[in-house]
Amino acid sequence: MAIHRPMKKALTRELDYFRSVAATIAEHKNMQKTRKLTQHGSVSVFAHSVAVAYYSVKLAKKLGISCDKRSLIRGAMLHDFFLYDWHKIINVGDGLHGFAHPATASKNAVRDFRLNKRELDIIRKHMWPLTLTKIPKYRESWLVCAADKYCSLLETFGLNKYDDNTFLK
Ligand SMILES: [Fe+2]
Ligand SMILES: [Fe+2]
Repeated sequence: MAIHRPMKKALTRELDYFRSVAATIAEHKNMQKTRKLTQHGSVSVFAHSVAVAYYSVKLAKKLGISCDKRSLIRGAMLHDFFLYDWHKIINVGDGLHGFAHPATASKNAVRDFRLNKRELDIIRKHMWPLTLTKIPKYRESWLVCAADKYCSLLETFGLNKYDDNTFLK
């Protein structure tokens, strides 16, 4: 079935917006380094981060959740901005990677970008419920928390159909 022209235009506008916001993070030299770091299976941290941002937006739309889309995309792009190979460095000083990397990612993100409270909450709380006391505060944080788990499952079982450039073109 052909997509109605106004609907197609709206979808193109949404994708253009996603790409323009994601690019403000993706182009940073430290974010570019995440292309070389593996997240799950054959998926880089870069591809994972972009996919989580993309699916967070899709989930918000599907559930009809209105939110700060710019913060949602930026926070998701930076949620795993820990910048080390977690397959080699299991214990990063502050504890095991799974528990400690949200704090490391937020420290790196604050150093390299100007972030608002929603973006910071997204990064710091995305591992809930593993990090039991770090409960997401904003709807944007809940969306990223859910999209992260969805993407991680796809990647772990090799079911993802995306790579570094799929959603950015
Ligand atoms: Fe993470
Ligand atoms: Fe993640």
